[in-house]
Amino acid sequence: MRIGLSYDLKDRVPRDVAAPEDYLEEYDSLETIEGIARALEARSHSVVRLGGGKEFLVSILQGTVDLVFNIAEGLGNYRSREAQVPSVLEMLDMPYTGSDPLCLAVCLDKPLTKSLVALAGVATPKWQVVNSASQLKETDWRSFPIPAFIKPAHEGSSKGVRLASRAVSSAQVAEIAEKLLEHYRQPVMVEEFIAGDEVTVGIVGNSPPQVIGIMRILPKKKTDYFVYSLEVKRDWESLVDYECPARLESSILKSITDSALTAFRALGCRDFARIDFRVTPDGTPYFLEINPLPGLNPRSGDLPIMAGKMGWNHGTLISAILDAALRRCQRCLTQ
Ligand SMILES: Nc1ncnc2c1ncn2[C@@H]1O[C@H](COP(=O)(O)OP(=O)(O)OP(=O)(O)O)[C@@H](O)[C@H]1O
Ligand SMILES: [Mg+2]
Repeated sequence: MRIGLSYDLKDRVPRDVAAPEDYLEEYDSLETIEGIARALEARSHSVVRLGGGKEFLVSILQGTVDLVFNIAEGLGNYRSREAQVPSVLEMLDMPYTGSDPLCLAVCLDKPLTKSLVALAGVATPKWQVVNSASQLKETDWRSFPIPAFIKPAHEGSSKGVRLASRAVSSAQVAEIAEKLLEHYRQPVMVEEFIAGDEVTVGIVGNSPPQVIGIMRILPKKKTDYFVYSLEVKRDWESLVDYECPARLESSILKSITDSALTAFRALGCRDFARIDFRVTPDGTPYFLEINPLPGLNPRSGDLPIMAGKMGWNHGTLISAILDAALRRCQRCLTQ
């Protein structure tokens, strides 16, 4: 097959001088694109690099591909940015890997995602959204559980998430929220801070979706509390250990698996996703957020690291995502 690869490279994203210093964090590196292309070519497909933004629009209109392997994060500060590329592909009736525009847009909105997941019966930390500085001034945080964690409502890759995002007083909640509102130019979510183990769950496939691994993220140095913050993600090799399969009791692993699959289905995800939880000392997994376009960097992506520890190499993971999409697409199977 001729497979198009859609992506947004860090160094091709338009500069935005008003954006915070971490605004390129979610975009991809050439290493990731080359890793995916290599995996697809190893299966005898030819790969066309479509890029992102206007370059993607021009190249997709050449009509030279049969299916698109999509990892484009989308452009701008819009909460629906991950839906941009799949929306164009649906307009052109072009099959692609991964979730559809509705799912991708919903999942970048953390509060909206939490409402749907909670409705499906999955535990998630208490939360409250602040839309503006004036709303923040009118809010009394004294009845909100402390410690609290404050993050931008529509971000990923730990943008806006630091060790200092944890507040231990209501005054601190207001202080952190005010700064985020100003810098990230979007609503802010205040969440109950969940102390306990950090785990991330990989899912691949559709009928049925399969949990391919549950990975615990452990700080190398013991601290009072752990946050898988931007500082940690940028220096993961020296700061954390990844344990996969997570050495947790089988009943806890079962609750994490059930919660992850319930969330994947409730949100209408397809082909693959990675879901983050915090597990309380009593063994309850609390859903934090879901990534229907998780990072696929062969060396540093959490999903590829997890897959590697479960005995899959990067090529096996990319192949499994492609196969999940192909099984949904009758037309592709006959090509
Ligand atoms: N309510 C919370 N309680 C405790 N820790 C939290 C909470 N919310 C976020 N964190 C910490 O901050 C990290 C980043 O938060 P979150 O996963 O929501 O951000 P993200 O930017 O969407 O992440 P990703 O890089 O996975 O896309 C979590 O992995 C966790 O360590
Ligand atoms: Mg996360």
